[in-house]
Amino acid sequence: MSEESLPFNEKVLPIKILKEEWERSIKNPEKFWAEKAKTIDWVKTWDKVLDDSDSPFYRWFVGGILNISYNALDRHLKTPKKNMLAYIWEGEPGEVKTYTFYQLYREVNKLAKIFKNFGLKKGDRVAVYLPMILELPITLLATARIGGIHTVVFSGFSADALAGRINDCEAKILVTSDGAYRRGKTVQLKETADRALENTPTIQKVIVVKRTRQDVSMKGGRDYWYHDLMTEVEPNVYVQPEPMEATEPLFILYTSGTTGKPKGVQHSTGGYLVWAYWTLKWAFDPDERDIWWCTADIGWITGHTYNVYAPLALGITSFIFEGTPDYPAQDRWWDIVEHHGITILYTTPTAIRMFMKFGEDWVNKHDLSTLRLLGSVGEPINPEAWRWYYRVIGKEKLPIIDTWWQTETGGFMIAPLAGLELVQLKPGSATYPLPSVLAEVYDEKGQPTAIGKRGVLVIKTSWPGMLETLWKDPERYKQAYFGRFPNVYYTGDYAVKDPDGYLWLLGRADEVLKVAGHRIGTVELESELVSHPAISEAAVMGKEDPIKGEVPVAFVVLRSGFSPSEELRANIVKHIRNTIGPIATPEAIVIVNKLPKTRSGKIMRRLLKAVLSGAALGDVSTLEDEASIEEVKATYDELKRQLEKK
Ligand code: WT7
Repeated sequence: MSEESLPFNEKVLPIKILKEEWERSIKNPEKFWAEKAKTIDWVKTWDKVLDDSDSPFYRWFVGGILNISYNALDRHLKTPKKNMLAYIWEGEPGEVKTYTFYQLYREVNKLAKIFKNFGLKKGDRVAVYLPMILELPITLLATARIGGIHTVVFSGFSADALAGRINDCEAKILVTSDGAYRRGKTVQLKETADRALENTPTIQKVIVVKRTRQDVSMKGGRDYWYHDLMTEVEPNVYVQPEPMEATEPLFILYTSGTTGKPKGVQHSTGGYLVWAYWTLKWAFDPDERDIWWCTADIGWITGHTYNVYAPLALGITSFIFEGTPDYPAQDRWWDIVEHHGITILYTTPTAIRMFMKFGEDWVNKHDLSTLRLLGSVGEPINPEAWRWYYRVIGKEKLPIIDTWWQTETGGFMIAPLAGLELVQLKPGSATYPLPSVLAEVYDEKGQPTAIGKRGVLVIKTSWPGMLETLWKDPERYKQAYFGRFPNVYYTGDYAVKDPDGYLWLLGRADEVLKVAGHRIGTVELESELVSHPAISEAAVMGKEDPIKGEVPVAFVVLRSGFSPSEELRANIVKHIRNTIGPIATPEAIVIVNKLPKTRSGKIMRRLLKAVLSGAALGDVSTLEDEASIEEVKATYDELKRQLEKK
């Protein structure tokens, strides 16, 4: 490898250990990972560490056999960790529940037994639609224990979205709850699940956790209460962990892409676990003294990796919170940090910007002195939010570990590594790639950009946590990640490398939005919009938002016979909430007579974006009809005025 492809600049920073580890991992990945993988318990070790003979389908630890629930639970029972807390959970109403590793092991075995009694077999899919309660990690671990494949659907998704995901992976069992708490009210989860279940022929059994105690309908022979099933099995039942090939899938997690249909990202058992373990260790190095709080919902990859598999495999205590940050008051989180003695807080820029808005007084009411590390994830962190986090939460003493990664990468990819060697931080940069990650910034032609020049981020290596494929869609996998440039993984993000080799992530370069850190496909939104009877054409764009980073704004053209009204707008919003879910709710529905298009008929997104940001429109020479952009602008201005009045 040439010297200039190294992302390090020795002259500037003393980063010896990191550089050495990174170089070792790139020069000889097989040797490097054979050493690292020893921290995992294997039933049988691998025959080959990395098989790249069928690239871009990379296979890690081929021939290796393990079970991930064994690694998360059983192996700690032989050590003093047996009686250590695996989870501390606080419910929205304020109750606290804890599980030691041993207690968690007991719960997981019972549920695994129930799954077996229901006839669930290795390779079968289990869909999960639950709020942030401990039955969620228990369900994942029980599924993994018997060799099933879980697919978690975030509880903010709609019935249609849930049904779509269940049908795509043909799940046999659904685990859900009667309801969920949200800001003191209850949300009807089972009712939504029931609507999904009208169109999910593969689901045979539904297990319902009682959480909010609201009335729900239970279908005989299909629906069972979780607590009934759990009391019916032997309390000390032991279910043998299913021996799994390292390359057999552990889970599918759907995420938005650049086309209409969400992508079923498929993760492996062995490579994923090794990557989860080492990335958490490198970046945060948590140990028995820590209480690790990753604020992400387990419905997203962040929760899968850093609320379930990585912390359990490392044998540390995680804190899980069911509620929202501002209920019942805007200091709920700081109350939690103080009360539970949280030592590491890993959260999102959106949350930080929200707390900035609430004001420092809420924070300063609490003793946060147990904190030793802070983390950030999900979207670029603007330097202003970074500095506030550093000053107000970290009291100018704690490093901020900004972790760049994706659903597809399984774990951190670019981040400062407090547990290996902490480089000098720069507010807003995720710093350097982790071992095994050879990151490069490319221009449109696939050439590395000059230092300081924006391009797209690509990864030129394979790493153990990398997705294996897209569920039953290998062609789309190839197209989505390796179709842009040959032989390199395309991330879809803009990035720039500075003169010190630091990487700065600059947001999505494709048709994907990051709304409060959540990934929303604009094309997915557009196709749901045009399924509304009143809409003939739609274009969705991101608009900058001071808290959420960006929010979707929909430009729509109505079919003849329909005219703009508040009622229609509300109806369109309802349609989106029903088809995708509340998280995709557009900030505004802008009704226009025509969308700005090029002469060849392509919607001019650049112009819509300019309208939204108030920037100059630039070259409009390719516009088919220049008048329409003026019209869009006028309509939007009018709408903005209306919104401001509210
Ligand atoms: C996209 C992936 C990975 C866990 C949560 C999101 C953006 C993520 C950062 C960061 C700048 C970030 C990227 C990426 N992103 N972390 N630290 N700095 N951008 O997973 O939903 O798959 O989204 O989130 O745009 O591509 P995801």
